Amino acid sequence: MTLRAAVVAFAILFAAPTAVLAHGDGAPQPVDTTGLEPLGDEWRGTNPYRDDAKQKAAAIEIGSRGYNSNCARCHGLEAKSGGMAPDLRELGESETEDAWFISRVLQGAVVSGRQKMPPFEGLLNQEAIWAIRTYIDSQPD
Ligand code: HEC
Repeated sequence: MTLRAAVVAFAILFAAPTAVLAHGDGAPQPVDTTGLEPLGDEWRGTNPYRDDAKQKAAAIEIGSRGYNSNCARCHGLEAKSGGMAPDLRELGESETEDAWFISRVLQGAVVSGRQKMPPFEGLLNQEAIWAIRTYIDSQPD
């Protein structure tokens, strides 16, 4: 292999994955939660943005961005599952389902030893995760 060919091969190998990640298809994307009431470090037991109309509207908007850049590739655009992962609109809005949602998102999912969903702990803050939950709940079934 000539040096030139080696350089080209190197560029293809390393440039391609970076280009994909830059479009948000793989790496988790941070979510700007400006506009939402800050929640601090202690995890809430239920969705704090569900009942206040103003906070709810902001959460849907922010959650839509967070969902599309972090969850849609598996759970489907507009939260309509294509069958690859569960349809998240089917989760109800009870306290138990809120707790289940949060624990899944923080821990991800390992099925038969395979990582089916990545953990988002340390990547998405509490505000971002509740906003995503609010967005999903706002989508028609
Ligand atoms: C790489 C694909 C992938 C990504 C990205 C992903 N998930 Fe998942 N998720 C899955 C799969 C697969 C399951 C089912 C796991 C199982 O069978 O237990 C799942 C399960 C869940 C569940 C439990 C659903 C239920 O009905 O029990 C929730 C909640 C969830 N995901 C939320 C999210 C959210 C919110 C995001 C984005 C922040 C996200 N997931 C990103 C693949 C993914």
